[in-house]
Amino acid sequence: MNISEQLVRLFEEKEGAFVSGEELSSTLQCSRTAIWKHVEKLRSAGYVFEAVSRKGYRLVEKPDKLELISIEKQLKTKVFGRNIHYYEQLGSTQTKAHELARQGAEEGTLVIAEQQTEGRGRMGRKWHSPKGKGIWTSMILKPRIPLQFAPQLTLLIAVALCRAIRQVTSLPAGIKWPNDLLIDGKKISGILSESIAEDEKPLYVIVGVGISANLGEDDYSEELKAIATSLQIESGHVVDRTELLCRFLEELETLYELFHSQGFGPIKLLWEALSVSLNRKVRNQSTQGLVEGIAISLDDSGALIVQLEDGSLTKWYSGTIQF
Ligand code: BTN
Repeated sequence: MNISEQLVRLFEEKEGAFVSGEELSSTLQCSRTAIWKHVEKLRSAGYVFEAVSRKGYRLVEKPDKLELISIEKQLKTKVFGRNIHYYEQLGSTQTKAHELARQGAEEGTLVIAEQQTEGRGRMGRKWHSPKGKGIWTSMILKPRIPLQFAPQLTLLIAVALCRAIRQVTSLPAGIKWPNDLLIDGKKISGILSESIAEDEKPLYVIVGVGISANLGEDDYSEELKAIATSLQIESGHVVDRTELLCRFLEELETLYELFHSQGFGPIKLLWEALSVSLNRKVRNQSTQGLVEGIAISLDDSGALIVQLEDGSLTKWYSGTIQF
């Protein structure tokens, strides 16, 4: 543990009480000037200290961080999230997870970043990932399924995420096909699933999940505000990111085991129950232009079955639907 970490630990033990400069410098065996420099460094990292002459310092507020110790304490999974690579900042957790998978990292390995500078969304879009406000994470999966079933896995992840968000926040999150999560029509979460395969079998799948947990109105551009929102904006209070991440990983592990033992059937039922896309008018931009119809159900591969205006049925395997 470096001096700053020791300093934080000491203040935490004091539970908000003042600690004199003398006690700090003798406990940490460094000069008072060095203590002051570390306090300033922590302040610039988001810690709030109160300083009173002759009393010393007290820790008033810690920055909200996804701390590994808290995750480890709360998490009830066997495999998922048991090996975490944590970063303050990354270009994209997807890129790092691909790198780790290529180096042989095991299934369930998780990459978390407090901030992404080049967060990636589906279809080449950017993903807004400001510091400390969301859950920006990618996980390595090694599903034992033929490659053609990989889209089912993405739907499974959406179900796990939707159930976790509902449990933790009680907000009415719903799934927009294939795997966007919405509250009142605005996006709160996205999933990016990237498979690397050999001989039609996935070697590994990198599942990237972005959850806009604690972004405020000011974190969104006017353009984004019209289509996106956060759990904090919708619920009116700060969301415990550690709790949400742990519940998500637990839901995911349970559904993943169910998927391997019983196939897509039970996941399809859960997805349909949480969907906000079914039994309504949907549009999709395809290579033949804009296609419109009524979304009826999912087929067994995870494709969306849509009834066109002439009454015929068609299947959509990918894309972004609009209502
Ligand atoms: C989408 O809805 O377009 C998918 C968004 C996926 C964003 C997540 S954030 C963590 C991971 N790292 C990335 O660069 N993207 C995914």
